Amino acid sequence: MQKQRDSFSSKFGIIAAAAGSAIGLGNIWKFPYIAGENGGSAFIIIYLIFIVLIGVPVMMSEFIIGRKAKQNVFGAFRQLTSHGFWKIIGIMGVLAAFLILSFYGTVASWTIEYLVLAFKDGFSGKSSDELTFMFESFSQSTFKPIVWQVLFMALTAYIVIGGIKKGIEKYTKILMPLLVVIIIYLDITAITLKGGMGGIRFLFYPDFSVLTHQSIIDALGHAFFTLSLGMGVLITYGSYFKKDTNITSTSISVAGADTIIALLAGLAIFPVVFAFGAEPGKGAGLVFMTLPKIFELIPGGYIFSILFFLLLSVAALTSSISILEVIVAYISEEKNISRKKATIITAILITLTGIVCTLSFGPLNHIQLRGFTIFDIFDKLASNILLPLGGMFISIFIGWKLKKQIITDELGNYGTLRFKFLKVFMFLVRYLAPIAILIVLVQGIWQIIMEMIIAG
Ligand code: PFF
Repeated sequence: MQKQRDSFSSKFGIIAAAAGSAIGLGNIWKFPYIAGENGGSAFIIIYLIFIVLIGVPVMMSEFIIGRKAKQNVFGAFRQLTSHGFWKIIGIMGVLAAFLILSFYGTVASWTIEYLVLAFKDGFSGKSSDELTFMFESFSQSTFKPIVWQVLFMALTAYIVIGGIKKGIEKYTKILMPLLVVIIIYLDITAITLKGGMGGIRFLFYPDFSVLTHQSIIDALGHAFFTLSLGMGVLITYGSYFKKDTNITSTSISVAGADTIIALLAGLAIFPVVFAFGAEPGKGAGLVFMTLPKIFELIPGGYIFSILFFLLLSVAALTSSISILEVIVAYISEEKNISRKKATIITAILITLTGIVCTLSFGPLNHIQLRGFTIFDIFDKLASNILLPLGGMFISIFIGWKLKKQIITDELGNYGTLRFKFLKVFMFLVRYLAPIAILIVLVQGIWQIIMEMIIAG
């Protein structure tokens, strides 16, 4: 007999928790930095196209699978099909979760350090160069980032042990809207900065000539990363959905909120980058090197800097909870280990691999593959390969494998909702999403092979 499964208690709670997973460091730390590295607006347009045409349909697909099967990612495929092949997606998802949470903890540790610095009023009077130096010396150090990373993982594990209603839902509901308000306040200041126009142009005037193959792969990978797609987070969350949850409108709300926050974050950061003569392609430290500058310029900057880094830590936490939940739901339901034990064991293992990612900025920086550090490799492998691959199989599963009746039932809530876009949806999951993902992935692999041949 199946155990009684936890579920979300309110409609807003569901959207908040799914949005809480989607909205995280990906929006505020990663989006500006990879948009910066890939030349700005042309990259952003490609990324937006991927969100709408691939992200939303794959998100709906994950919710359909999750709510129908009411299982963890691995069990869901076993329940819906007898073919063993599909279990691979579950395994791939668990592996991606492991890799992502490892490097996510590194960036979360930076966020906590910046929260502490904000408390100590550590940004005021610092020049851009000093802020850059501050970030570099912290991220390259050995001891402190690890302490924060351990703390962050312990908090994540603590909430996951608490379960769905008491844990995940409670924390997300209030804090996410507050984060939006603060970012908008930062935007208003940034936009009015003298010399900030360059940043707006960088964000909104596309120059497609700067796009490379790598930009397209990064855009696709980031669309998956930022929406928490391709590894079963939303299958797992969908499994906690109620009968009357509207899968389509939930997906559109989550993807919409996630995209708006990323754009708002870009709008806060790039005017500062340009106004202070910094480099948009500064890499992973971009947000930490530039954003503290704004706090000096706004009324109440001290309080807002604390609030901002506090909420960014919370946003990181609500995402990391969802990543850990994928692995814990899998281990505890498949291997019959208690939820608590599964969480603790997984969190310890991920903390250990996470520490390796953290040290790849300092003592382990010399370990590189084609110029990529361990941190980069974890990120690229998970975001640019495993997630899109997972998303491709998920859309194929919905487009070609699952009974059409189940899809119509799930999208129409068993006759209580009208779903008008079935044809469009089926076209996207049958053809467009899988073919587009395949092309981007094959191109990426081809490029690596060519580079290896050229390098001899
Ligand atoms: N979407 C999260 C972010 O943007 O920070 C990160 C993430 C969560 C990625 C869950 C993947 C995932 F399954």
